[in-house]
Amino acid sequence: MEIAIYSAKPYEVPLFDAAAARAGHTLRYIEAKLSLATTELARGAPAVSLFVSDDGSAPVLRALHAGGTRLLALRSAGFNHVDIAEATRLGLTVARVPAYSPYAVAEHAIALMLTLNRKVHRAFARTREQNFALDGLMGFDMHAKTVGVIGTGKIGEVACGILRGFGCNILAFDPHPNPACLAMGVRYVPLAELYAASDIISVHCPLTPTTKHLINTAALAAMKPSVMIINTSRGGVIDTRALIAALKRGRVGAVGLDVYEEEGDLFFRDLSTAPLQDDVFVRLLTFPNVLITAHQGFFTREACEAIAQTTIDNVSAFSQGGATAVAASHLVTMKLITG
Ligand code: NAI
Repeated sequence: MEIAIYSAKPYEVPLFDAAAARAGHTLRYIEAKLSLATTELARGAPAVSLFVSDDGSAPVLRALHAGGTRLLALRSAGFNHVDIAEATRLGLTVARVPAYSPYAVAEHAIALMLTLNRKVHRAFARTREQNFALDGLMGFDMHAKTVGVIGTGKIGEVACGILRGFGCNILAFDPHPNPACLAMGVRYVPLAELYAASDIISVHCPLTPTTKHLINTAALAAMKPSVMIINTSRGGVIDTRALIAALKRGRVGAVGLDVYEEEGDLFFRDLSTAPLQDDVFVRLLTFPNVLITAHQGFFTREACEAIAQTTIDNVSAFSQGGATAVAASHLVTMKLITG
């Protein structure tokens, strides 16, 4: 089956070439992002592969469908960039990679946490300037601190395990408590209690209509005064303008973001010679206690290999038996959204 791969990155090509060769599929690499302007590039390809930065809105899906596409093979766990209701209406099958390495993302969340706490990013810059003073670099013991984990699925569970290793107390909020987390001593509490008691809050829930701007002005006001907030899930879970207002008031101690609401126009590209147009993002960059990475939580060798292999496996299953042949846990349906 021919697969048109949008937003194809050089690091993916050898991994996809190898997996597709084993399965006998043909690949059409497309460097451009998927948008209404680029759907024509996939014409005739029965399978189209989307990255998180691609636009899977209704008009785009209609154009792909008209061009002969029947399968959307997402190279991600998250699917908030795809209009699933429209895909369902068109009869487009949507398959994702539900788990490729929860370790990759959870470990990145911890990396942001430790970097911000011990100010490694600032120390790195200082020592290169031969400034060996410690003023302003004081951190805190992770041991015995309370960490609030929002969303304890695959990634949240791994994060809880690592944090337990540090000797943290863990509070969690998730409509579906995870038995593995309960077994390691995680205590599920209402969000208000998690906000009030946590020294660090790490977000690991998907972006859905319910979690959109979950961290808003009211939530920020309910948190401990110098709370550290880590978001490696999806940018839209945090109301960025409310976050900036709280940072300006000194209400938040530190923020680590791997995702940003409007990242589609910024991330996964080298914009180092262009003036940034997003003033909200530029304001975020000015805070010394904000650390931003450009959606690289997933970016480990193991995760990228797994993404390529599972994407190809999804296409193979679909080409052999249609949607019903795709592993049920890989299919994205309205049921996943409405619960
Ligand atoms: P998962 O599906 O295993 O777990 C998500 C958990 O969130 C579930 O336990 C679910 O019950 C919970 N949840 C749903 N609604 C909630 C709410 N309103 N409040 C609290 N919890 C809620 O997903 P997984 O694999 O752990 O991934 C989580 C998210 O991480 C993905 O949806 C994606 O947005 C993000 N992600 C980020 C990556 C990165 O590179 N930064 C890479 C992969 C995923």
